[in-house]
Amino acid sequence: MAPSVGLSEPWRFVQVISKDTRSSIQTEFERANREALAGYSGEQAELYARLKLAGLDHAPAHLAVFVESGTSKGSGLGRRTMPEMAEYSVVAAITTLWLAARAHGVGMGWVSILDPARVGAILAVDDGWRLVAYLCLGFPEEESQIPELERAGWEKRTPGKDRLFQR
Ligand SMILES: Cc1cc2nc3c(=O)[nH]c(=O)nc-3n(C[C@H](O)[C@H](O)[C@H](O)COP(=O)(O)O)c2cc1C
Repeated sequence: MAPSVGLSEPWRFVQVISKDTRSSIQTEFERANREALAGYSGEQAELYARLKLAGLDHAPAHLAVFVESGTSKGSGLGRRTMPEMAEYSVVAAITTLWLAARAHGVGMGWVSILDPARVGAILAVDDGWRLVAYLCLGFPEEESQIPELERAGWEKRTPGKDRLFQR
């Protein structure tokens, strides 16, 4: 039901239910996360290594979300000057799902520490599909108004007023 450019509905949702497939995704996450860790040094590397960056091992629901940007649906409406609108439409659908999930008390985590081509191969999807998000859904162990990365000392939220500009 999410909005999309030209009503192209370019999102493709794959419910990952097989235990073996989930385990392959977990292995790919661990590989990509080791590579990411190698890009940091000193105290930042120590902090990075302590962060919980995915809930793949215990989330009850896994959804891989792809974009089929070559879809003919919508006949290109709204994508001539900004072809990236297909990807943005998929992100809009994910955000809509995220808000709906939270309204029902369900938590969602977006895992991006994955190689999109490897995930596409693990899930054996069409060549024209590209991974936008790998989502973990479940009931949160705790609720907080402060983002986890802020609580962990990685980054702080910027006040909204500092990101609003007027011309
Ligand atoms: C585009 C995008 C990519 C993200 N990728 C990751 C990720 O790879 N690992 C992670 O732990 N969180 C990632 N996040 C953040 C979490 O999914 C999200 O912040 C968390 O579920 C909400 O908890 P918080 O309020 O504590 O931040 C990502 C968020 C977005 C919007």
